[in-house]
Amino acid sequence: MISSPLMTVMVDAVRKASRGLRRDYGEIENLQVSRKGPGDFVSAADRKAEEVLRDALTKARPGYGMVLEESGIVEGTDKSHVWHVDPLDGTSNFLHGIPHFAISVGLEREGQVVAGVIYDPVKDELFVAERGKGAYLNNRRLRVSGRVDMADALSAYGTPYLGRGNHPRLLREVAAVMAVSGGTRRMGSAALDLAYVACGRLDLYWERDLQTWDIAAGIILVREAGGFVTSADGASEPLAAKSVACGNEGLHRELVAILRKVNG
Ligand code: IPD
Ligand code: CA
Ligand code: CA
Repeated sequence: MISSPLMTVMVDAVRKASRGLRRDYGEIENLQVSRKGPGDFVSAADRKAEEVLRDALTKARPGYGMVLEESGIVEGTDKSHVWHVDPLDGTSNFLHGIPHFAISVGLEREGQVVAGVIYDPVKDELFVAERGKGAYLNNRRLRVSGRVDMADALSAYGTPYLGRGNHPRLLREVAAVMAVSGGTRRMGSAALDLAYVACGRLDLYWERDLQTWDIAAGIILVREAGGFVTSADGASEPLAAKSVACGNEGLHRELVAILRKVNG
């Protein structure tokens, strides 16, 4: 585990917000079968979790700016620090009673992510990373997978929501990766996709049309676990591009080459 004042602040905030989220998730099964469905209930759970995070982080670091999924941008007096907060990543899974979602908090300093926490409250898995201090899952130090052969690699990708993104392009990319790799997954939480690459469960992950709160924490996790993360076109910083391609050095290079070839 990482023991630093910053990590304590982040982990405390995330754990505090997770209590309500876990409780609310327990209600989902009942709402699932009701006619109205759990939609409004989930939005309320999401907003409540964000409020807890916002309060805790503001109390601990009053001057920092924030980019929050639900309440937008909060300008800070300290212009070099910005929190990127997703109170519930994997909303669609949560809504459908699929136990795969997380809280994600990343800290950006001068354009670079320097710390990240991703917490899966159902599995009680806490992923943390801080620049220069490594990445951990609970108390275990993380390392990206060592696979070298694309034929053995398990890749995750993200599909854009209805009405957004470029569906035909994604289908072409998935077809190309499927044709040469060991398997593909659409898991439904960008934050956990990145965390799973960091801990070697997944070998590769790529997605476009993301937001900074989806990926800030995960970017530092993958890097501190020895992996490579770039934008999906392989050329730029993922946080600015709001897209990602990641994996170990060799497989990341191969993935980017496949995506570039598909997109001509
Ligand atoms: C979504 C999830 C999903 C990704 C979407 C995100 P949300 O976040 O991370 O895996 O494909 O692009 O918007 O809406 O569940 O917070
Ligand atoms: Ca969200
Ligand atoms: Ca999200």
